[in-house]
Amino acid sequence: MTLEYRHSHTAENFGTTYEDSFKRKNYKNFIYQWEREVVSQIFRDCKPDNYLDFACGTGRITRIAEGLVDNINGVDVSESMLGVAREQVKSANFILEDITRGEFKPERKFDFVSSFRFFTNAQPSLRKEVFESLLDLMTDDSYFLFNLHMNSTSSFALAARGYETLFGKREGFNHLDLKTMDRDFQLLKHFDVVSVHTKGVLPVVREGKERSNTFFRVVGGVESVASYLPLHSFFSKYHIVLCKRK
Ligand SMILES: C[S@@+](CC[C@H](N)C(=O)[O-])C[C@H]1O[C@@H](n2cnc3c(N)ncnc32)[C@H](O)[C@@H]1O
Repeated sequence: MTLEYRHSHTAENFGTTYEDSFKRKNYKNFIYQWEREVVSQIFRDCKPDNYLDFACGTGRITRIAEGLVDNINGVDVSESMLGVAREQVKSANFILEDITRGEFKPERKFDFVSSFRFFTNAQPSLRKEVFESLLDLMTDDSYFLFNLHMNSTSSFALAARGYETLFGKREGFNHLDLKTMDRDFQLLKHFDVVSVHTKGVLPVVREGKERSNTFFRVVGGVESVASYLPLHSFFSKYHIVLCKRK
């Protein structure tokens, strides 16, 4: 686990490298296309007015709101990541701020807040601080959309945890599930879960590696058949969770 996740994406040019890693013909891109479909449908269904993408990074998720949401905002602590976001998402308002420091004071509260690829890798103390800060920024009926990109019970995480039991802890391997989030900061006391969308039962390693069309045909086929099977969510690596404030 990164000791201080706040500083993990601040190096010069990190934003460009991060952005590029989702644009290749790789498994990351395959999952990103699925995320785009799920998130755009959620925006159509929820019709938010004032949207905040927390830890927006390069605006990978923020940009899905373009044309679907009137007021689009992103906040992140990394100038390098925001530099790319400002290039990519012209209609959004991006703010350089660490929301846990109490200096982010928007004029209006948000009725839709998202956070992708943050909670799984942030250290537990930061997860909790962020969650509490986000609650203060949300309206009483706000939606909260987040993802878990290494669900603890996924086939991938189970295999990796088995490996760690045998050979010791691997640096950088973090996993998280809803149960742990609820235990650590009482997520379900504040929110009802509206829907959970899942993908990634196959434990594909080296997500950034470029692959052939055959690879994507086989993986895509297996994933769509698997989506009809019981326990599909349990074994899936990627979860997108839509919650609504109680
Ligand atoms: C893996 S990136 C995710 C970016 C984007 N949400 C995505 O899905 O591609 C995690 C981001 O969290 C940001 N971050 C970490 N701690 C933060 C904090 N306390 N306040 C704002 N942003 C933070 C990092 O700078 C980084 O850009």
